[in-house]
Amino acid sequence: MYNFHSQFEQYQNLFEEYTKTYAQSLKTQPAHLGESMAYSLLLGGKRVRPVLALATADVLGLDKQEILPFALAIELIHTYSLIHDDLPAMDNDDFRRGKPSNHKVFGEANAILAGDGLLNSAYAICFEECLKGEKYIYASKYLNDCAGIYGMLAGQSADLYFSKENCEFTEDDLAYIYAHKTGKLLLAPVAIASILANNHSFPALESFGKLLGDLFQITDDILDEVGEFEKLGKSIGKDKEENKLTAVRVFGLENARVNADICATNCHAVLDGVDGDTRFLNDLIDFVRNRAH
Ligand code: IPE
Ligand code: IPE
Ligand code: MG
Ligand code: MG
Ligand code: MG
Repeated sequence: MYNFHSQFEQYQNLFEEYTKTYAQSLKTQPAHLGESMAYSLLLGGKRVRPVLALATADVLGLDKQEILPFALAIELIHTYSLIHDDLPAMDNDDFRRGKPSNHKVFGEANAILAGDGLLNSAYAICFEECLKGEKYIYASKYLNDCAGIYGMLAGQSADLYFSKENCEFTEDDLAYIYAHKTGKLLLAPVAIASILANNHSFPALESFGKLLGDLFQITDDILDEVGEFEKLGKSIGKDKEENKLTAVRVFGLENARVNADICATNCHAVLDGVDGDTRFLNDLIDFVRNRAH
């Protein structure tokens, strides 16, 4: 019988096994390059992006083995983005996934290289996939677009830009940051599953991925304000400290919560346009809305 949490765990476990095997295969010289990459990769995040990839594959009737390499590539890019995001030059965060941040363990210079290593390795996986045929090339290109200078990197750059003192901003600037720094890497798993399933339900899934990205960052901003370190595994109150442009700053805590509810409702509505059993994805929306970690 279907149960959201055990289904989530099943997806996590499938991904975790695959990732562990991959991490063990990293044999670098010097060894600490691979070790520092594996450290952050295996710290155990929520794996929301890989879970999304696997769950969307299930909705579309796509073999999960088909999407696992892309799920891993996305998580490698996500993990690299977190290592760099935590650096003193960026958000200056000492904790990640409940443990000291990469640069706290390996030093700043090695942490930069660990991030670079994860990014390059993600594309090495994509190149392997491209050998299988055209749709794998389109899937890889989609991931590159999501992660690159018109995607997540643009969002990170805008995030830094708007954290300057006395910087003027509009609600559109916040929407831009959301859509790029977070939205793109939540969109990628959903869109790539559709591409590999011959573009099955692409427009509806694309809208779903974008809205889920918005919802994910609104709740991230809310949790930075009212979350608990023990549950989140990362420092709280950092956004205020670093003068970040967040939903809480723009709308206030209560209205940020209202916006999160509206976003969740819209997210459910677009899923109606997806042909298949979307129970898990619908429950995932509520999980993201109500999460404490
Ligand atoms: C944190 O992402 C960074 C954001 C985009 C808000 P997650 O909350 O998915 O982090 P992990 O992977 O579970 O550690
Ligand atoms: C990070 O956003 C988004 C990334 C691309 C890493 P945040 O800076 O809000 O993420 P946390 O709060 O440090 O996880
Ligand atoms: Mg940041
Ligand atoms: Mg941060
Ligand atoms: Mg945050």
